[in-house]
Amino acid sequence: MYINFWYPVARSDEVTNETPFRTRILGVDFVAFRDTEGNACVLSDTCIHRGGALGAGKIKGDCVECPYHGWQYAADGKCARIPSLGDDEKLPARAKVDSYPVQEKYGIVFAFLGNLPKRERPPLYDIPEYDADDWRANKLVVFEVDYYYERSVENGLDAAHNEFVHPKQGTPGMVQDFRNKPIDVDDIGDWGSKFMLPFVQEKSGEGLLDGQIERRPTDLTAGSGHFGPNVLITWLHLGGENKFHQYFFEAPIDENRTRIFFVNMRHFMLEPAMDQRIIDVNMEIAQEDIDVLTNLNPVRTPETTTKELLVPSDRPVLRYREYLKDWEGKGWRIDLKKLAAMRGDTAVAIPSPARRTTKGWILDEIPMIVD
Ligand code: FES
Ligand SMILES: [Fe+2]
Repeated sequence: MYINFWYPVARSDEVTNETPFRTRILGVDFVAFRDTEGNACVLSDTCIHRGGALGAGKIKGDCVECPYHGWQYAADGKCARIPSLGDDEKLPARAKVDSYPVQEKYGIVFAFLGNLPKRERPPLYDIPEYDADDWRANKLVVFEVDYYYERSVENGLDAAHNEFVHPKQGTPGMVQDFRNKPIDVDDIGDWGSKFMLPFVQEKSGEGLLDGQIERRPTDLTAGSGHFGPNVLITWLHLGGENKFHQYFFEAPIDENRTRIFFVNMRHFMLEPAMDQRIIDVNMEIAQEDIDVLTNLNPVRTPETTTKELLVPSDRPVLRYREYLKDWEGKGWRIDLKKLAAMRGDTAVAIPSPARRTTKGWILDEIPMIVD
């Protein structure tokens, strides 16, 4: 798991000015709420007084109030009120929690979970067709799965699993052409990579020798890509204007569980009445992946590629892992072993941008892998 990327925190309608929304991402708890102007705010959930869970508290005006002794925190993370101090007493400068940059898009509240200054941050993935009239977005679907998010992203980057995990999908004999040539993987800017593969129509039997397979090209293509560690994109171009673009914004809850925010765009069958049918088919396909991925061993991607036997069709997965190594080299990878050892007696926070410019933070930063 990596800091310094945009993570989906909640559906926009879950974040209100009435009740705080509490959630776990990257193994750490967060609270989200709206101020009186309607801006979404995301803060570290742990009250730095004596460990109250802010997300279990109340919203008071522009602040979230800890349920334990009523300390109130504003959108910038600074404590605005400590009821047990006299009204004219100054609030300690260290009375603050981490506050994270927020963007609201696609019906999702995203937070930048990391400490990079604005100009250095990787962007939030842009869905170019999201507002286009000739495209339709399905209602946002959010679901949770019992496996590590990197296994989920890698599964999306893997064309070779389709005919085994999803045998019911597609036209019989239609396969993606990854066997005869290496897959060309292209970068998406500085933060991701992708591939597109043509489909071929395979035919055997009548008019052909025993075991002989005839392969004919088609105008269908499909591919996928990742952006950052946690965004998976699938492009399905089924000929002409018939296109699906699918976006999976993934939030690792911890090392064993992932919450997936699924935005499905389509360029045909635009009638709203088709929405539910399309979601049903997609969730049926997702369930086929879930059934396989829940049983992978080890649960997390292995530390080195020597502990799995990768073949040429795994090239997009390998490219993803190279990116992850790069981000680890920048010091952005969370040390899960150290984190597990700290649990129970040390509360931690993902460092926010303000930690670069101010001192006096009560909570430890989450431990990172340092090379
Ligand atoms: S623990 Fe939050 S106010 Fe005391
Ligand atoms: Fe799949």
